[in-house]
Amino acid sequence: MATDKRHGDVKDPSLALDGIAHIQWAAREMPVLNLIHSRFSHQKPLEGLRIACCLHVTSETANLALVLKAGGAEVSLCASNPLSTQDDVASALSQELGVPTFAIKGEDTDTYYKHMHSVLDQRPHITIDDGADLVSTLHRERRELLPDVIGGTEETTTGVIRLRSMADQGALLYPMIAVNDADTKHMFDNRYGTGQSAVDGITRATNVLWAGKQVVIVGYGWSGRGVASRARGLGSHVIVTEIDPIKALEAVMDGYQVMPMLEAVSRADIIVTVTGDIHVVDGHHFDRIKDGALIANAGHFDIEINIPSLTEKARSIRTVRPLVEEYTLEDGRRVYLLAQGRLINLAAAEGHPSSVMDMSFAGQALSAAYIAQSQGQLKPGVHEVPRELVTEIGALKLEALGITIDALTEEQKSYLSSWEIGT
Ligand code: NAI
Repeated sequence: MATDKRHGDVKDPSLALDGIAHIQWAAREMPVLNLIHSRFSHQKPLEGLRIACCLHVTSETANLALVLKAGGAEVSLCASNPLSTQDDVASALSQELGVPTFAIKGEDTDTYYKHMHSVLDQRPHITIDDGADLVSTLHRERRELLPDVIGGTEETTTGVIRLRSMADQGALLYPMIAVNDADTKHMFDNRYGTGQSAVDGITRATNVLWAGKQVVIVGYGWSGRGVASRARGLGSHVIVTEIDPIKALEAVMDGYQVMPMLEAVSRADIIVTVTGDIHVVDGHHFDRIKDGALIANAGHFDIEINIPSLTEKARSIRTVRPLVEEYTLEDGRRVYLLAQGRLINLAAAEGHPSSVMDMSFAGQALSAAYIAQSQGQLKPGVHEVPRELVTEIGALKLEALGITIDALTEEQKSYLSSWEIGT
């Protein structure tokens, strides 16, 4: 291990060259971020600012870190999940690319928080979070840093929920931009990114055949509908469980079976939780679960499956493949828990494809510049990404894909802003 303030703490510094190749491969599919990179290199919108990032340490995140650096920021990075780090990327960032990185795949909870404190030790002006652990730790344990912070951004649904709860209780003391809520983020990253990469993670961990399987998707939000559609594409019979009548209705009209979890669990060959909620697969569900079921989580935290209850009900537990634990229940039924209930797409695969992270991280980079620009003008609380930035990201992505669309004619503009013309 190599630990120091300038470089960080990574597993194996000798992986740096592999990491560079990995980062460059991702950059090929990130045209919008590349464009922002050249813009930031000239305009330096982040000059003199220290940015602390708590993100999945992947090749796409490395590209974001390089854009922030090109914009003039000093950037440091820790992981937003103990299992999501790509060790070669962490080495490249820390050894070759001037981004102190504190992240080791498989780190224990103490090391995870120690690394977060190391990033906070850099006294950030801006925080970039995925799940709000950094903001929460800063507000709970490092309040001496608050006067320096001008704002932050948040990447995921669970993080935005936590920030809104902090704001409601008057506990959030600086402005946060909810990057997740931008249309160019959740409509694409959560849906197409999680859809593809969760299926990829489960496949890599198990080599399971999806065709003909009964797959239960728990939660039909932006991410759940992505996983459902990809599982169906592979020939699975998809069942959706929900607690929201509207989402449940959408799932019905999208052609899925919808039923309560207690019923679904007894049919499931594969269960994927993606709700952001706690214990959506709970103790009483394990009493009904089908023998041989695979169970994975794609929601942010490892709380969606009640693992303590599963452990209690098991008469034996053994590792049968990397990231696959077999729990044998008292009556002999076996349940296969993948990646300890942590984000399957990042723990067992590579996370979202670069092309979709291009849009998410364009939102992060432009939001960081917006915070720098609006210093002192944004109140503490949760703010949206300004609409013009969202539209710009969408337009740039379309352009990069070589797709042109129509523009409103003058007649259409006038019609759409008038009320006089009817039948
Ligand atoms: P969302 O709010 O769009 O969807 C969540 C859905 O779960 C809602 O429809 C809600 O009604 C439903 N739900 C809540 N409790 C439930 C229960 N007990 N049973 C069944 N359904 C229930 O949220 P989104 O954007 O889909 O995110 C879900 C989770 O995935 C969050 O934790 C988010 O942070 C995470 N996420 C993970 C990604 C990854 O890379 N794996 C990427 C994007 C988001």
